[in-house]
Amino acid sequence: MNRASEPQQTNPLREGLSARAVSQPCSIVIFGATGDLTHRKLIPALYNLAADGELPPAVAVVGFARRKKSDDEFRRELEEATRKFSRQTVRDEIWKTFAQSIFYHQSEFEDESGYKSLAQRLDKIDKERGTRGNRLFYFAAAPDQFEPILKNLKTAGLNETCKGSWARVIVEKPFGTDLASARELNRIVRNSFAEEQTYRIDHFLGKETAQNILVLRFANAIFAPLWNRHYVDHVQITAAETLGVEGRAGYYEGAGALRDMVQNHLLQLLCLVAMEPPTDLGADSIRDEKVKVVRSLRRFSQGEIASAVVRGQYAQGAINGKSVAGYREEEKVKADSKTETFVALRLYIDNWRWSDVPVYMRVGKRLPKSGTEISVHFKHAPAVLFNKEAVTLDQNVLVIRIQPDEGISLRMQAKMPGTSFRIQPVKMDFHYGTSFGKASPEAYERLLLDAMSGDATLFARRDEVEEAWAFVDIIENAWAAKKDAPDLFFYPAGSWGPEEADDLLARDERTWRRL
Ligand code: BG6
Repeated sequence: MNRASEPQQTNPLREGLSARAVSQPCSIVIFGATGDLTHRKLIPALYNLAADGELPPAVAVVGFARRKKSDDEFRRELEEATRKFSRQTVRDEIWKTFAQSIFYHQSEFEDESGYKSLAQRLDKIDKERGTRGNRLFYFAAAPDQFEPILKNLKTAGLNETCKGSWARVIVEKPFGTDLASARELNRIVRNSFAEEQTYRIDHFLGKETAQNILVLRFANAIFAPLWNRHYVDHVQITAAETLGVEGRAGYYEGAGALRDMVQNHLLQLLCLVAMEPPTDLGADSIRDEKVKVVRSLRRFSQGEIASAVVRGQYAQGAINGKSVAGYREEEKVKADSKTETFVALRLYIDNWRWSDVPVYMRVGKRLPKSGTEISVHFKHAPAVLFNKEAVTLDQNVLVIRIQPDEGISLRMQAKMPGTSFRIQPVKMDFHYGTSFGKASPEAYERLLLDAMSGDATLFARRDEVEEAWAFVDIIENAWAAKKDAPDLFFYPAGSWGPEEADDLLARDERTWRRL
């Protein structure tokens, strides 16, 4: 049975974001199993789920890759990686049990027979381990391998289900490099898997604090009346990294910060901040509202790009007192590379709620600090009473710290102790770590669990991805054509990006929030 829609297996305990995820028995097949993502993120995430008792016992992991190796060799490699990258210290007895559910399947991605034998192997695993014919295919291979993998899965009938079992596919970024390629990729995926079987991963959505944006907005009554153009002066979103390109230049040279971070992670965060309340917590209700935000983004005209978008590239400098090379000196980077490692932009959401409220975004590598945060800057208090003097009081700012030190703070004015009326900004601060006393799970833990339980809320839908590319393409095309496009500005590693990024806000009489 080639399914147009998935059999309804939703656990009654699980409905969108409203309840705890309950994953179902399944085999997880990872394409590109010997790669970095599998070692650094996927297996450590699965191990942590096992250690926390979140993984059903009937889960098998099948690594699919080209290199020859035995199950045991693969398990040993993964154990080493997990000991290195796991959030929790690896406990021998848990690893030992978990490792028994890991298998290795060697095949070329283009080799049809490798998928036939995979199907037989999965049937055997179903019988031995009770994985019930449910399959989760994780695409951690290079994007140019997606097409042969998808085609061969279909030929082997692995996209099909019978007797109420399911088959799902998780697709890693980059999901295309522009609108045309994203559409093409969507078309290719759709040839083998229906939209409701497709989970496009954006790991920022799995971050605890990103999910908390919805709780902050829709589980509290006090913010809703203020969350609009009447009270919000502007919004800032910053994603800063001290890391450089870290040996990923092969990919990054063709991507740059706009494609790598803005098209996906930052626009997703913006959607969560700016969306209208959904009708319920179901995946599509939330995604329906998110996509409207991207659709409402004001499209830049050619002439506007130079004044609204700043692109930069790090030059030699120092991070934490240690000298580091410039981007153009990094391995596999062209000596005259124009790839941006920093981008700052001012955008507008042309809808009823946000009309004329600027949103400033910046993202960069080799900045002085690592941190991702969203800050909502409220309008000034009226220029009367305490705010009537020449020096205006600071605005109220609500800061959502996505990482590190996850939490939320609210800046407000307070009277300093003493006999005179001196006013000082103070912070009300909520820290996840101290309030809940336990570490947040890694984004991949949550997302893998959600895919196993059939909840696509925290995954990007086809139209979201395409709309985001439509917005980003305008900027990319202007840069490529160089007409009216801003130059590439250099910044020393360890600084907050080029001065032009500060000018972007200074022209509007604003400044970036210090992280
Ligand atoms: C990835 C980008 O998607 O996100 C990387 O490709 C970036 O360039 C990374 O470093 C940041 O993610 P995190 O979770 O480390 O903040």
